[in-house]
Amino acid sequence: MQTRPIPHSAENLPVIGLGTFRAFDTSLTATPIRDALADVIRQLTEAGGTMIDSSPMYGRAEAVVGELLETEPARAKAFIATKVWTRGKHEGIAAMDESLRLLRTSSIALMQVHNLIDTETHLATLREWKAQGRVRYIGITHYTASAFDALKKTIAAHPEVDFCQFPYSLIERAAERDLLSFCADHGVATLINRPFGQDELFAKVADRALPDWAAEIGCTSWAQIALKYLIADARVTCIIPATSKPHHMRDNLKAVAGAMPDAALRTRMAAFFDNL
Ligand SMILES: NC(=O)c1ccc[n+]([C@@H]2O[C@H](COP(=O)([O-])OP(=O)(O)OC[C@H]3O[C@@H](n4cnc5c(N)ncnc54)[C@H](OP(=O)(O)O)[C@@H]3O)[C@@H](O)[C@H]2O)c1
Repeated sequence: MQTRPIPHSAENLPVIGLGTFRAFDTSLTATPIRDALADVIRQLTEAGGTMIDSSPMYGRAEAVVGELLETEPARAKAFIATKVWTRGKHEGIAAMDESLRLLRTSSIALMQVHNLIDTETHLATLREWKAQGRVRYIGITHYTASAFDALKKTIAAHPEVDFCQFPYSLIERAAERDLLSFCADHGVATLINRPFGQDELFAKVADRALPDWAAEIGCTSWAQIALKYLIADARVTCIIPATSKPHHMRDNLKAVAGAMPDAALRTRMAAFFDNL
């Protein structure tokens, strides 16, 4: 698996990870669901991936990840990221304690302020938690381009921010205007959410055959096209597509292999989606 450096440390992060929004918000009582989600995590880690991103906002996802990692050898390798999604110092601490309990861990690789909710309050707590070794990295996230200026302001004011998570895909390219460069210039790792615009990218291409240029970069699916477009951007540290299906995880992991689009092909790829 291709890796990218985390600028604030010497650690390298595999470029494809796993999101858990919706996909992991389920009960593990039914064996087929449990087996499928365990397989998704196994596929990721066997391919060298480590990043699993969750949040208390995602219903049962943290508990499901915690339970599945209990019986998987993946736990030792996993880079678990979650978020604080509430207001108030004490409420934030209680929520993060609960996340650690559900994830069945005493420390977390990356704790992020979800959607910039009560950022100053939580960053103060997270600086203390980092000093105590309860988190390795601190992050901020958002889901919409209208918050990119606020993300940049927070990064400029807070050198302790190690990661910035935001949407970027062939159909949501606002991050290319300046957020990606801003993060690179400030030594902040980028975590890419909504790489398929949730399901909108697949809806846009619907039953279309893959374009001729897909073969030039060894792509056999729209998901691989979407992910290769992002991997080819050196300012991207890690991408976290969500899936509940092992065959989709396998598909997504194929994007790390083979040729990557050059600048000219990336322009054609973007134009193709703009013209749909
Ligand atoms: N503010 C925030 O912090 C924030 C906001 C948004 C997202 N996130 C994080 O980013 C992650 C990714 O974003 P997202 O979940 O919103 O959207 P996404 O990853 O762009 O899309 C997920 C959807 O794509 C489908 N999918 C995955 N792989 C596929 C494949 N190979 N072929 C066809 N369909 C495929 C999944 O369905 P199947 O389950 O059927 O595969 C799911 O419906 C989230 O899960 C979450 O961890 C964070």
